Amino acid sequence: MSARKLTCAFITLTVVLLCQSVRSQLQVGFYRNLCNLAETIVKEEVRKGISRDEGVAAGLVRLHFHDCFVRGCDASVLIDSTPGNSAEQDSPANDPSLRGFEVIDRAKARLEAICKGVVSCADIVAFAARDSIMIAGGFGYEVPAGRRDGRISLVNETFTNLPPPKLNVDQLTQAFAKKGFTQEEMVTLTGAHTIGRSHCTSFTERLYNFNGTTSQDPSLDSTYATQLKQRCPQGSKNPNLVVPMNTDCPSFRDAGYYKNVLANRGLFTSDQTLMTNAATAIQVNQNARNPNLWRSKFAAAMLKMNQLDVLTGDAGEIRSNCRVKNS
Ligand code: HEM
Ligand SMILES: *[C@@H]1O[C@H](CO)[C@@H](O)[C@H](O)[C@H]1NC(C)=O
Ligand SMILES: *[C@@H]1O[C@H](CO)[C@@H](O)[C@H](O)[C@H]1NC(C)=O
Repeated sequence: MSARKLTCAFITLTVVLLCQSVRSQLQVGFYRNLCNLAETIVKEEVRKGISRDEGVAAGLVRLHFHDCFVRGCDASVLIDSTPGNSAEQDSPANDPSLRGFEVIDRAKARLEAICKGVVSCADIVAFAARDSIMIAGGFGYEVPAGRRDGRISLVNETFTNLPPPKLNVDQLTQAFAKKGFTQEEMVTLTGAHTIGRSHCTSFTERLYNFNGTTSQDPSLDSTYATQLKQRCPQGSKNPNLVVPMNTDCPSFRDAGYYKNVLANRGLFTSDQTLMTNAATAIQVNQNARNPNLWRSKFAAAMLKMNQLDVLTGDAGEIRSNCRVKNS
């Protein structure tokens, strides 16, 4: 390569890097001068939502995860399907399990009333997840803001980006590596399964048709399996049956998820598989014994997740209704 070409490549690289750092620049307190009440109003609506239905806290944390892993944290998960477009919400990964949408709608409606066109749906989702973790017995962290809303939501992008509950530890590690997370961060984030619920349909094959040799997953505690079978009868056609994710202490105060996994009471294959790898098993052990360590790692990983592939500056838009892109 000639010196000139080299210089050119260097300049191009620098410009690209600069642009990227500008593009991903979010700021704590972004709305201070633009819409001072933004974070307060979101918190109020999250509080109200959770007092109406406790499960909303888990719903909002998962909503944020499913938003960020598909096209970045751009509120694409909130866009309703239309006759011409099957959106992310149509995916079996989201329908019928995803919840908390009405809290986002209420916060957005209040924010539009006082600061029209200013606060993005993507930021509301990120704030709401943080507030939910706080209220569900956790800890706070500051959420840098300035995300803009995307205009695209495609159901088939959920299939390649959202990890299904059948994955083993290597597949999970890959799925998170694709988004820039280490294996340890993957283990840390999965601790969110300390709260919330699951539909029976997400795990019943572990109870009734595991594989050709055995109908029940041998890595599942047998007492727990019996309880699950009572709640989720074989061949039930009821798609609304649910069980709590964590029967002991569904709170971020302790790291109950990891204690469950240690006791072979991880609900999904993707939970229990963390014990099949030496490195992830050590982390499960550490997190179970030291909830404070887990909480600080979890906050750091959430901070990283909430900046995933964000749109900023002139990219995207500020949707006026979170469920439809602006016309
Ligand atoms: C490691 C890969 C993961 C897999 C395979 C996975 C899978 C699932 C599945 C199948 C459900 C049950 C949905 C239902 O049937 O109702 C669920 C629930 C949930 N997940 Fe995950 N998840 C993963 C990681 C995460 C992460 C990273 C977070 C957040 C940081 C998270 C937060 C939640 C929450 C809070 C619930 C409960 C939702 C509710 O109660 O409405 N999950 N997950
Ligand atoms: C997703 O669907 C769109 C529209 O139907 C199509 O153009 C695209 O190729 C699909 N992508 C994948 C990965 O299947
Ligand atoms: C079924 O699972 C068990 C336990 O993991 C395993 O030992 C067995 O080889 C599996 N059988 C098939 C057909 O995959």
